[in-house]
Amino acid sequence: MAKPTGPRILAITSEKGGVGKSTLAVNLAGACAAQGRRVVLIDEDGRVGSAVRWAARGGDALGFPVLEPDDARPKLLAGADLVILDTEGRPKRKDLRALAERADTVLVPSGLSALERDATRELVEYLGDQGAAAKVRVVLCRVPPVGSAADDLREELRDAGMVVCNAVIRQYAAHTKAAELGVLVRDVRDPRAASAWADVEALAQELG
Ligand SMILES: Nc1ncnc2c1ncn2[C@@H]1O[C@H](COP(=O)(O)OP(=O)(O)OP(=O)(O)O)[C@@H](O)[C@H]1O
Ligand SMILES: [Mg+2]
Repeated sequence: MAKPTGPRILAITSEKGGVGKSTLAVNLAGACAAQGRRVVLIDEDGRVGSAVRWAARGGDALGFPVLEPDDARPKLLAGADLVILDTEGRPKRKDLRALAERADTVLVPSGLSALERDATRELVEYLGDQGAAAKVRVVLCRVPPVGSAADDLREELRDAGMVVCNAVIRQYAAHTKAAELGVLVRDVRDPRAASAWADVEALAQELG
C-alpha cells in the first residue's frame, strides 16, 4: 500500500496486449505534467514498444522522467506528486496482485471489441476478488471517432458494476505518429493531434 505521504501511484494494466497502455501512459503523464504536477513515469515493460524507448526516440524531451524500475530511486520518487506505471500486457496473476496492492489507482484501458471487453471484465473481476475494486477505473481506448459504440459499451460495463471513465481515448493516427517520433501527441503535426490531446487532458482532469 502506498504511504499517505508518498506520491499517488497510478498503474496502467490490461489483460490483453496492444490495447494502448504505453500510448496512454506517456500522454497521460504529459497531460498531468502540463497541469503542473511533478510526474514520473516508470516503465515496467522492457520490450520494444516501451515508454523508455519512446522517450529516447524523442531525445528525452517529454518533460517528465521516464525510468526503468531499477532507476526509480525512492529519493527521486519522494519528490513526485504522481507516479505512473506502464506495465506489460497479459500480466501474471501474482504480478497483478502486487500491482493492485502498490497502486492507489489501477487504470484499465479497453478497446471496444468483444474480445477486449471480455478480457477487461475478467481483469476487473480478478482485481475485485483481490479487494482492489475501489481502485479500478476502466477507460475506453482506441475508440472510433465516429459513432456511439463507446457510449453503449460504457453503459454496459457500468451495468455490470464497473467504474468506467467518462473520458475516452479516440483512435487517431496522430497517436502512432507520436510514438514513432517519441513525443507527446499534442506535439505531432497532424490535423487531429489537438483532438487526440484533448482526450488525454479530459482523462487527466477526470482522474484528478
Ligand atoms: N488512441 C490510439 N489511436 C491510434 N492508435 C493507437 C492508439 N493507442 C495506441 N495505438 C497504437 O496501437 C499500438 C499499440 O499501442 P501501445 O503500444 O500503446 O499498446 P500497449 O497496450 O502498451 O501494448 P503492449 O501490451 O504490447 O505493451 C501502437 O501501434 C500504437 O501506436
Ligand atoms: Mg506497452
